[in-house]
Amino acid sequence: MIKLPKPSLEFFQENQGEIFSSGNLAEGKWNVAVAEWCCKYTSSDYALAVNSNGGGLFTLLRLLKEYRGKKKVFIQSNTMYGVRTIAITSGLEFCGYVNCSLNYLMPTYQQVENFINRLDKPEECVFLLTHIGGWVNPDIQKIAELCKEKEISLIEDCAHSLGSLLNNQHTGLFGDAGVYSLYATKAVPVGEGGIIVSNDQELHEMAEKFVIYDRFDQKLDVGVNFRMSEINALLSYSVLKETEKIIENKYIISEKYQNACNKFGWDYIPPLGDGQKSNLYKFILISLSETPKKEFAQITKRTSPVYDYTLGEDKANITQKHICLPIWYGLEDNIIESVLLELER
Ligand SMILES: Cc1ncc(COP(=O)(O)O)c(C=O)c1O
Repeated sequence: MIKLPKPSLEFFQENQGEIFSSGNLAEGKWNVAVAEWCCKYTSSDYALAVNSNGGGLFTLLRLLKEYRGKKKVFIQSNTMYGVRTIAITSGLEFCGYVNCSLNYLMPTYQQVENFINRLDKPEECVFLLTHIGGWVNPDIQKIAELCKEKEISLIEDCAHSLGSLLNNQHTGLFGDAGVYSLYATKAVPVGEGGIIVSNDQELHEMAEKFVIYDRFDQKLDVGVNFRMSEINALLSYSVLKETEKIIENKYIISEKYQNACNKFGWDYIPPLGDGQKSNLYKFILISLSETPKKEFAQITKRTSPVYDYTLGEDKANITQKHICLPIWYGLEDNIIESVLLELER
């Protein structure tokens, strides 16, 4: 049920013919447009359109291994299984999971510090952190400072968080680099695609070369093809330019859910507050009950939870203690109404 805004489809249709008449099927102006849009939108110095978030993360990890002396990588326990496979595929040695807390379903500063304190040579490590559900890790600033102090490279997996802000700063720019996902189910859905953002010129320039095998300069020893095709870049740009409208549309739905939650006593993660501005990738209900399954039983109109598995330990019982209500661009009124009815108690 992925719906794209009408102006996005119209813009795509108006411009696709020119791709074929010009013959620029790859490495053309729409890739540039996506990158420029992203720099402007996030205030990043550099951006690069790639085939997927996974491709972008792999690019960064592999470059850090090859050219910045990194040997190991760690991730958080509450994230997508693929983050683990990306980390291991990069060739870095996988060295574990930082625990997460029920507060925003992410690792706290304390949990990160505890993990780092147990590391043998932190300066050889990369921390691949995921911002979950559309919120920014609330401790990201302090986590980034700690990583800097310990000489740990911090890469932000921003698959969920294009358009999410903490204290007016976009994700992806707290550490060395970050990668957004434009996958079909994500907050700003295109179908496929990713964008690397960074303020690190050297890393950006290496990434630009890595994703085209460095076939022009021929300086890098590592590289693959993770380009975004021009058709995909045009579609991406068509959707990206409607980002604020897509997010605003979800805020209208969220307000209805929030009113019902406040009235009937459901705990949820607020999209605004504490300096956060969520992109509302997910609307998350939290249960503090000892029997969360029972408490949530009356709500059948849900989407899949953020994750119903954990990669490491789940001492906070995150997998059981949250559920997600349907929220996406253009969600039908009848679905919203039936969710509101189920929230009554
Ligand atoms: C946390 C997380 N990281 C990475 C990805 C990978 O994104 P992509 O499908 O664009 O490679 C996803 C989504 O699928 C995700 O949820």
